[in-house]
Amino acid sequence: MRRGGTLPYPPSGLPALPLGAAREETPRRRAAPRGGRLLPCQIGRYTLFDHIGQGGMADLYLARVRTDLGAARLVAIKEVAPRFAHDPRFVEMLASEARLAAGLRHASIVQVEDLCREDGSLFIAMEYVEGLDLRELLRRCARQKVKFPVAFSLLIIAEALQALAYAHRKGVVHRDVSPSNVLLSFEGEIKLCDFGIARAHERCGAMDEALQGKAGYMSPEQARGEALDARSDVFAAGILLWELLAGRRMYSAGPGAALSKEAARGDLLELARRASIPPLVERGLPDEAALHAIVARALAVAPDDRYPSAAAMLQDIAAYAAAAELTASPLRFGAWLRDNFGAELVAPRRARERAVRALELGPPAVIEPIATVAIAPSAREAVTPSAMDIGAQGAMAMAAPPAMEAAAPPARAAGAQGAEPAALAFAEPPPWARAQPPLARPQQRWPVPWLVHNALLFALAALVIAGCYLAAR
Ligand SMILES: Nc1ncnc2c1ncn2[C@@H]1O[C@H](COP(=O)(O)OP(=O)(O)OP(=O)(O)O)[C@@H](O)[C@H]1O
Ligand SMILES: [Mg+2]
Repeated sequence: MRRGGTLPYPPSGLPALPLGAAREETPRRRAAPRGGRLLPCQIGRYTLFDHIGQGGMADLYLARVRTDLGAARLVAIKEVAPRFAHDPRFVEMLASEARLAAGLRHASIVQVEDLCREDGSLFIAMEYVEGLDLRELLRRCARQKVKFPVAFSLLIIAEALQALAYAHRKGVVHRDVSPSNVLLSFEGEIKLCDFGIARAHERCGAMDEALQGKAGYMSPEQARGEALDARSDVFAAGILLWELLAGRRMYSAGPGAALSKEAARGDLLELARRASIPPLVERGLPDEAALHAIVARALAVAPDDRYPSAAAMLQDIAAYAAAAELTASPLRFGAWLRDNFGAELVAPRRARERAVRALELGPPAVIEPIATVAIAPSAREAVTPSAMDIGAQGAMAMAAPPAMEAAAPPARAAGAQGAEPAALAFAEPPPWARAQPPLARPQQRWPVPWLVHNALLFALAALVIAGCYLAAR
């Protein structure tokens, strides 16, 4: 019999995520403006049209790109903040780490596709995961008082461990396993992203504030700035599991954290160095001691006392989930995500996607078929030459999809109309112009005035009558 299948998030009796600490650790997310770009805009072959997030070193945008076959697909574009993009050493490190990350191909790893530079900006193009990250999921669960099933927690950890085990076999250590780097798709996929980025930071010198902001998910050796191996990622996966089971942050900064973010970072870094792990509270799960033992081994202070690899930890998690009947399929997880959060997240994104597709199609035009409507001279002047060309080819009335105005927020609409129209011009003719069958042109009449015509007939008849009269005489 299945027992303890769901846990409230946060579990009753426990405080929600310590908001003070969370706020202090990620102040930039609340204070900073949403991306520095006027959207939509064109970067290389990518049309950026939505801002999806902001981290310590970058802004994340949603973009469309045309494939070689002419189809369009979505990608995530990470624009590195200028203070990093202008540091040649960092750029070099990031390029070498991105090359390594691009070599990782696994269902539970976000695929890195491209690293490009344009106008002094630096971008990483990667697979777009439509859904939300683990940090956002837990926040929404806490805010909306949605219970998060413990079977899904185990599924998330198992998938993250699979990704880590694969990367470790390839010689790549993640170094930044944290809830915001665990992406959850509405199809039920669980994917780790940002492999190698933390290493690029570290190789550039001192640990800067972008990294210190992740102190809450560091192994003790990482917090002390020592050499790392795969077991550091195992420790971070242990923190994720601890937090999913407890329903709160494992390390929380002290009261001074409310006053400054430096104090918060300092507190978290100190906690991470000491690795003093708070005990987990019993939740009434089947054989809970076995589950707590897994967490304790992953969170051992000395790397030698930990699981030697992500694969070893995964084995224990899978065995526990099967024995406790706490298994879940990605299919069920995806359906649960869609049911609880799908509508509020997907609808606005779809609307913006429709809006940018409409922009790519070209300027809105309404043209009547030539066969049925005679265009008055004044109206003819009002139609632009390009629209007339379309009419001559026989294209039917084409109007911008209604979503275009309705969905695009004012800043984006302004950008679309004025700031960067050229950036959205595509060389190919838009699909609707190619798809429509040409209309037959109307038959033109010979312009003979009817008066002249009738006068000629009358004269002919008069001649015939006169001829007949003369012949009769
Ligand atoms: N490939 C992706 N597809 C969809 N959303 C993504 C993708 N990559 C990142 N995101 C979203 O963008 C947000 C910001 O990502 P970013 O990596 O810049 O910040 P972070 O992970 O919070 O911090 P850090 O800079 O320490 O990695 C993430 O929290 C995630 O929700
Ligand atoms: Mg990230």
